[in-house]
Amino acid sequence: MMQAPGKPSTVPLNVVLIGFMGCGKSTLGPRLAEKLRFRFVDTDNLVVRRAGRSIPAIFAAEGEAGFRKRESAVLDELLAGKGRMVVATGGGIVTVPENIPKLKRLGCVIWLDTPEAAIWERVSRNQERPLLRTENPRETVRTLLEARRPLYRAAADIESDSSDLTPDEAAYGLAECARMHFAGWRPAENG
Ligand code: S3P
Repeated sequence: MMQAPGKPSTVPLNVVLIGFMGCGKSTLGPRLAEKLRFRFVDTDNLVVRRAGRSIPAIFAAEGEAGFRKRESAVLDELLAGKGRMVVATGGGIVTVPENIPKLKRLGCVIWLDTPEAAIWERVSRNQERPLLRTENPRETVRTLLEARRPLYRAAADIESDSSDLTPDEAAYGLAECARMHFAGWRPAENG
């Protein structure tokens, strides 16, 4: 149901972008933040800043488990924040079960459900992602994506495949979706 006019929203005013590596979170995020007049933050950047070393260096020294601990700590930090943020998250943030309710508490969670072929096309262009430094990265993308899809779905308020749009078109559409979410509109309640 639409929220009664004048009634303050109880939904936290943040947008949280989730999705697989290369799904477009860091490209769309700043554009979406600009449209909503929110601040853009990126959990990977915050982890790197807090750790004082790069993601590959964190994985090398502390393993994936060490990285996940740092990522969860950043999520806790954001939960204590004031809001009005667009938060781009690392693709594996949903693999820590306790993070899922936290993502939902943080705000309107949008899953960028980009097709596998487009993801591969993007991630194969850079070697910065430790989890894809395998003998067969194409196969790694396939298996990781398959395992994570249900986790993204469980966390998401909104699912969006905008791979055939320009980043600005996609950001425009997502900003409208987020505004409706903040106004209390829910698809299930509106048929
Ligand atoms: C990871 C995704 C990366 C980064 C790290 C682990 C993952 O972020 O957090 O390399 O497990 O999918 P992006 O999704 O921004 O590439």
